Amino acid sequence: MQEHLIIFDTTLRDGEQSPGASMTKEEKLRIAWQLERMGVDVIEAGFPAASNGDFEAVRAVAESVKDSIVCGLARAIESDIRRAGEALKGTGAARIHTFIATSSIHMKNKLRMSPEQVIDQAIRAVKWAGEYTNDIDFSPEDAGRSEIDFLCRIIEKVIDAGATTINIPDTVGYTMPEQFGNLIRVLRERIPNSDKVVFSVHCHNDLGLAVANSLSAVIHGARQVECTINGLGERAGNASLEEIVMAVRTRQDYFSCDTKIDTKQIVPASKLVSGITGFPVQPNKAIVGANAFAHESGIHQDGVLKHRETYEIMRAEDVGWGANKLLLGKHSGRNAFRSRLKELGIEFESEEMLNNMFLRFKELADKKHEIFDEDLHALVSDEALVLQERYRLLSLVIHCETGEIPYARLVISDDGNELHAESEGSGPVDATFCAIEKLLTSGAELQLFSVNNITSGTDAQGEVTVRLQKSGRIVNGHGADTDIVVASAKAYLSALNKLHSKLEREHPQV
Ligand code: KIV
Ligand code: ZN
Repeated sequence: MQEHLIIFDTTLRDGEQSPGASMTKEEKLRIAWQLERMGVDVIEAGFPAASNGDFEAVRAVAESVKDSIVCGLARAIESDIRRAGEALKGTGAARIHTFIATSSIHMKNKLRMSPEQVIDQAIRAVKWAGEYTNDIDFSPEDAGRSEIDFLCRIIEKVIDAGATTINIPDTVGYTMPEQFGNLIRVLRERIPNSDKVVFSVHCHNDLGLAVANSLSAVIHGARQVECTINGLGERAGNASLEEIVMAVRTRQDYFSCDTKIDTKQIVPASKLVSGITGFPVQPNKAIVGANAFAHESGIHQDGVLKHRETYEIMRAEDVGWGANKLLLGKHSGRNAFRSRLKELGIEFESEEMLNNMFLRFKELADKKHEIFDEDLHALVSDEALVLQERYRLLSLVIHCETGEIPYARLVISDDGNELHAESEGSGPVDATFCAIEKLLTSGAELQLFSVNNITSGTDAQGEVTVRLQKSGRIVNGHGADTDIVVASAKAYLSALNKLHSKLEREHPQV
C-alpha cells in the first residue's frame, strides 16, 4: 500500500517571486482553478501581508477553491500572521505557513536575533496562527545551512506549540541530494515528537538540484513536497511539480508513496502558467518542454515505432500532450463557446464580458481555422488586460519591403484619449516599439523580447513576452495575436501598464 505524498504548490507565492512574474487576482484565480482540477493538495496562494492586492488574491482563491487546502504565507510576526488569518477566515480548508530563519548567517545578519529569541518568536508565531486554524506549516528558513542541533530544538518546540507540518527549506539551493535526504532522516530520528507532524521540503534550484534534493528527502520520509509549475520561483526557481510527480509515478518500484495528481492536467497547467507569467518553457525541459517526447534520431524513431518502451519511459498523452482538444471554429455558437470556457474554469462576471470575448473569438476564428484551448486562454488573458489597463493598442500599420527602412504607424488609447505616432526602425518590431516610446517616453530598458507560437502551424497565434526594467522594477508584459508585430505591440503596452500601476509589494524574505 503506497503512502500519500502531499503536493503543495507554491507557484502563486514563491513562483510569483520570480522577477517579472507578478500576477493579478484574476490570473491567480485561473491558475488556482487549474491546480485544483489537477488534484493539488495544498495551494499556497500568496503572502497576504505583502500588499492589499496579495491579500485580496489569497482571499479570492480561498473563497473559490473547494477541493484543495488554501494556504497563506506569513513571516513569524504577529501582524503578518493576523493578515494571513484574516485573508483565510471563513473560507474552506485553510493553512497558515509561517517561517523564520534559523541559519547563523541569517539570524546574525538579517534578523539580528539570538537563537533563543528566534525560538521564542517561532513558538509565538505558531500560537498566533493557531488562533485561526489548526493546520499550521512551520519553516525554518535556510534550514539547508542551519546547525542540526538548533534545528532539532526549534522544531521540537514548534511541534509542541501546534505546528502540524514541518517544512525544511533549502532556501539558497546549497545542499547535495545525499546530504539533504540525510537531514530529513536525522530530524525525524532525533526529534522526540517528530511522529506528530508531516515532514515537508522546499528546495531551490540554484545548483540545478531542487528536484533531486526533494526526491532524496522523499526517500527518507518527507511526505510533502513544495514545488511549482515549470519550476518557477525565486532566482533559479523551485523544484518543478511536473518532474516530482512524474518521477514518483514512473518509478513506483522505487518510491513507497504516490500523489493524487491527475497527470493529464500537467501540460495544460504548464501552458497556462507560462502564458500568464510570460516565462517560456525551454524546449528540452523534462515533461513539459516541446521536445520532451520528440524523437529526432532515426534509430530512436525506429525503436519507438517498433516498440514504444524502447525509448519512452512515459506516455506523452499521460501528461496531457495532445489533450488540447480541437474544439471550436468560426461556425461555433455562443453556447458552445461559453460551455468550453466553463470546462476550462473560466467564467464571466457579466453577459457583456462574454459577448466581448465571443466577438474576439469570432475575429480570431476568421484568421485561424482551428481554435485550441491555449488560444482561448490567450484570448481571456488579452481581454482581462484590455479591460483593466490604461494603454491599449487601437491600430497598427506596418510597412516592410526589401531594401526599404521598416516603418510603423500606430494609434494608442491612453485612458480613452487617442494618441498617434509613427517611426522607422531596424525591423517592424523595432519601429513599433520606437513609435510607442515616442508617445509614452517611458525610458524603460528592454531586457527581453521573446516570441513563441501558442499552437502549431503557420496560422498559430504568436505569444510575445516583453520584459522591461525601470528604476529597479522588472515587469513582464505579454500579448497574443496571429500577427506577431501586433502581439509585440500589445506585449510592450502590457509591460508599460504594469510599470505604470506601481504595485508596491513587500518581499517576504527581505
Ligand atoms: O525558500 C524559502 O525558504 C521560502 C520559505 C518562505 C519557505 O520560500
Ligand atoms: Zn522559497
